[in-house]
Amino acid sequence: MSNTAHHTAKCVTQFALRNLRNKNYSPIFGTMSLNPFVLNHYRSPAYFCNREEETAEIIDAIEQHRSITLHSIRRMGKTALIKHVFYKLQRKRNHHLIYLDILDLTNAADFANSLSSAMIASLEQSKEGFIKKATKYFGKYRPVFSVDTLSGAPSLALDIRNEPDIQFSLDTVFSFIAKEKKTFVIAIDEFQQVNNFDIKTIPATLRRFLQQYPNLVFIFSGSQRNMLLELMTSPKHALYRSTQLISLDRISDTSYAKFIRRHYAKEGRKINDDIINDGLDWTMRHTHYTHWYFHRLWTLAPTLNRQAVEQIKNQILLDNQSVFLNYRNLMTSPQWKLLVAIAKETQIQAPTAKAFLKKHNLGAASTVQRSLNFLLTSEMIYQEYLNKKEKPFYRVYDVFLSRWLED
Ligand SMILES: Nc1ncnc2c1ncn2[C@@H]1O[C@H](COP(=O)(O)OP(=O)(O)OP(=O)(O)O)[C@@H](O)[C@H]1O
Ligand SMILES: [Mg+2]
Repeated sequence: MSNTAHHTAKCVTQFALRNLRNKNYSPIFGTMSLNPFVLNHYRSPAYFCNREEETAEIIDAIEQHRSITLHSIRRMGKTALIKHVFYKLQRKRNHHLIYLDILDLTNAADFANSLSSAMIASLEQSKEGFIKKATKYFGKYRPVFSVDTLSGAPSLALDIRNEPDIQFSLDTVFSFIAKEKKTFVIAIDEFQQVNNFDIKTIPATLRRFLQQYPNLVFIFSGSQRNMLLELMTSPKHALYRSTQLISLDRISDTSYAKFIRRHYAKEGRKINDDIINDGLDWTMRHTHYTHWYFHRLWTLAPTLNRQAVEQIKNQILLDNQSVFLNYRNLMTSPQWKLLVAIAKETQIQAPTAKAFLKKHNLGAASTVQRSLNFLLTSEMIYQEYLNKKEKPFYRVYDVFLSRWLED
């Protein structure tokens, strides 16, 4: 091999090795950036689509010290929106921002522990400060310290056993608020989980704090909409009418299309409006499903043609097929038939009307009513109000299941 040829071969090898080491290297595109359709976590405003009005509304509520309840059907983007609001508020530096997901908690003592940890961590950024403060105030509960291996955040486990202990620990951490000039914003995600706690007084305790501390704002959010709204709007419950309700709907097709076009253009890729609109339609603009679909589409060949698009849709449905088949095993035949019928219609307003029963061969209206109740409580379907004058529509919750059933 000549010297020049040898040199060229070496350079090519080095280039290839460098690219292979770079996990964003693609044999089709060469070195490429991260997939802009981010799944399961919040990256930054550039990767967050729209929600401008909701963001402004929540920030306004926080600045005015008004607590809110954020609700929507599942997977519409509540958690992502809270993270986005926090990202924006972080820059202002006049808030203590605390985010707590309580879905995995089963009792009030664990809740008190988690909230105490999060509150102390927001006040004391250093590990030493955290331990010092926790020991000073909670020494009698034998605090055990640990550090989250992923985030590095310190946490605290207190030996709390009964209701007075829970009250004492919460009273103590919330009393820190009085000494602070900054606003405390505490987001409690999956808040309906308090219904499953052994001790039921957490909502009453939180309301007491709201009345006691003017610089405290709660963001309650949750995926079990009915339960969450019941907690916030029924006179039976402590937090009755103490928060502003904010409902999260679908992102508009123009905003979503703009977001998709922008990310394709930024990377010098091409996508035509037909493919964008078809994707928004196929995923019914239900954020999680839309993002999932466009995330998968991004990994496809640079020229997106209809064939490639159909291939991705089939692949998504195939990936989920075993889960969908399992649903069928868990249901009675009338329940399954009703689910298929709703999927075939995409949405249906009168599922016990004669025409619908006949068209899909569903049998008696009373059977359908029972199946409907089952599908609603097991969250296989949900009700959506399109306007205040009309009855709600029933839809299959999981968009990919709906598309799989309709075939
Ligand atoms: N505005 C947005 N821009 C970009 N992606 C979003 C946006 N909102 C949601 N997503 C995407 O949708 C996914 C689901 O959103 P998120 O988890 O926030 O929904 P959720 O309403 O909290 O769901 P659940 O009810 O199951 O808790 C996110 O992981 C993210 O991929
Ligand atoms: Mg969520």
